[in-house]
Amino acid sequence: MDKHFTVTTPIYYVNDKPHIGHAYTTIACDVFARHHRDRGFPTYFQTGTDEHGQKVEESAKKNGETPKELADRVVKHFEDNWKMLNISNDHFIRTTHDYHENVVQDLWKKMADNGDIYLGQYENMYCVACETFWPENQLHEGNLCPNEWCHRPVEKHSEPSYFFKLSAYQDKLLELYEKQPDFVLPDFRMNEVRSFVERGLHDLSISRTSFNWGIPVPGDDKHVIYVWVDALINYVSGAGYLFNQENYDKRWPATAHIVGKDIIVFHAVYWPAFLMSAGLPLPEHVYAHGFWNSEGEKMSKTRGNVVDPREAIATYGLDPFRYYLMREVPFGLDGDFRKENMVNRYNSELANDLGNTLSRTLAMTDKYLDGTLPAPTDGQRFGLREAAKTCQKEVANYIETFKPQKALEAVRILIDVANKTIVQQEPWNMAKDPEKAGDLSTLLYDLLEVLRRVSVFLHPFMPETTEKIQLQLGLDIPDFSWNTLEGWQGLPEGTRTRRGDAIFPRLDAKKLQELEEKAKKAQPAPAKEEKEVEGLAAIEYEDFSKVELKVGEILEAEKVKKADRLLKLSVNTGEAEPRTIVAGIAEHYAPEALIGKKVVVVANLQPRKLRGILSHGMLLAAKNEGKLTVLTIDDATLPGGSKVS
Ligand code: ME8
Ligand code: MG
Repeated sequence: MDKHFTVTTPIYYVNDKPHIGHAYTTIACDVFARHHRDRGFPTYFQTGTDEHGQKVEESAKKNGETPKELADRVVKHFEDNWKMLNISNDHFIRTTHDYHENVVQDLWKKMADNGDIYLGQYENMYCVACETFWPENQLHEGNLCPNEWCHRPVEKHSEPSYFFKLSAYQDKLLELYEKQPDFVLPDFRMNEVRSFVERGLHDLSISRTSFNWGIPVPGDDKHVIYVWVDALINYVSGAGYLFNQENYDKRWPATAHIVGKDIIVFHAVYWPAFLMSAGLPLPEHVYAHGFWNSEGEKMSKTRGNVVDPREAIATYGLDPFRYYLMREVPFGLDGDFRKENMVNRYNSELANDLGNTLSRTLAMTDKYLDGTLPAPTDGQRFGLREAAKTCQKEVANYIETFKPQKALEAVRILIDVANKTIVQQEPWNMAKDPEKAGDLSTLLYDLLEVLRRVSVFLHPFMPETTEKIQLQLGLDIPDFSWNTLEGWQGLPEGTRTRRGDAIFPRLDAKKLQELEEKAKKAQPAPAKEEKEVEGLAAIEYEDFSKVELKVGEILEAEKVKKADRLLKLSVNTGEAEPRTIVAGIAEHYAPEALIGKKVVVVANLQPRKLRGILSHGMLLAAKNEGKLTVLTIDDATLPGGSKVS
């Protein structure tokens, strides 16, 4: 078999830590890769991290580190997680690798040489007060800033930007979808993508001058390359394009990019257009899987319900977790991680169906055959060889078409057949009849051989447990190659079986509670956004220190026309000019009563327009039963501008 199999995950942003969603995509790719390796295909599996862009630059600034330092720190979480999840990737690409940067610039030049890149103006909307750019479609009615407390008119902002002529690819993309209807999978996603392209494509802004953390545009290094152009190219740079032709020839085009449904347009529209422009072959498939919720709710840091793979593994074990993720939902649809379902599946399908069938068969082998395998026959006597053959075909077909859940269903059916055969044939009765000795040994051999095949089919899903199964079956060196599925003699005559501990001990309520507690203890302290202090969301000192409080001396105060509650104050906060602050205290203070008072001002608040007056700050005040008291300073010698902390 010389057809290569190349599978990729998205490269994950380094401004988030890995969670069950990232684990899901990566485990699915691991299953596809291991399956193809077991079948003898030259296989290449790539994952990695997306490390450039404005968001990373901003997070790094907040943490007081360089973007590269941030990336180096976070990339470790991903690498550690993938080790912990037993991910067998052949390569881990980081977009800050030199070779990747070279390839991105090279492909940029190829697209430019092809006439697809031009310099234009990138226009968007800018709110001066909020210092924020807004996409046009997010604006508040009447072209106003969408910040609900702002709602001021925004300005058109324009900066030079390079554009990719995506509009020129509309027909070529539609042609691609026509010729290769399985380019995007599942089907319903293909339809979505096609309608998206049919609605018309705009040229794509692919450079920025407003930040630095990215790969410079060749020949114009005021611009950095748009992070998605940079990121998508990982798939060819990681495969060896430009610097390792031999690898590249073996690995590209990719068989499948596996991605979440959130980034399907980037992969199914932009990416093939870039590749066409640069003259490179296209991947065969882009498969978009669904999203996981947690106990019926969308996962979010603020809800604190993000499923941490580390905790799940500590509770249920690695292989059961991998199994559950692949088994619970058809690949492509959304899933809901529920502890209850996880436990039910574990107990019924792993502990009971698979685990018990194995231990039962091994126990009978001990009892009736002294733990030694007889000579194999042709496997026809009880129909087990036929059932195993059917399962094998289905597993191959389902994995080739990216349906891991169906592959597992097919294996479950085979285990069920084995179990039913035991019940129907009643080996315990055969054992009482010396004339049935031949049948009994054939039955046990065939059952053990079915279990060996089950271990081969399940190996990509549960690499550790399937090794244990083979060791218990008596094999000294586990072998999951599909070559071992030819004929019906995978277990040599005379092999001594080794019945051991249950491979999936049952999880009862008590055991589960113990495991959950242990898993929690093994956890690092919860992330800062989840901590509470006496019922209030806790912040770090670092967060508090961002608020700048200063002493302000009120110089002038007057009522704001047509606003019963507002006073316009002129406040000396130690700067060259007094500040204007609009405060909602007119119902509590006469203007003249405030003059000369020393108050506490929040000095670094985003300026905000109230009744047409721009307010530069806020006064601190205490409230009690509708009465409002402005905080004042006793010490008359304290000058305006003194720092409060
Ligand atoms: O989008 N359920 O990176 P990202 C299932 N850097 N899968 C989920 C998920 C969930 N709740 N949440 C995340 C990026 N994922 C870009 C990709 S590729 C050239 C650049 C998975 O860190 C899913 O695979 O935001 C999704 O597509 C991916 O994480 C997004 O990861
Ligand atoms: Mg994302």
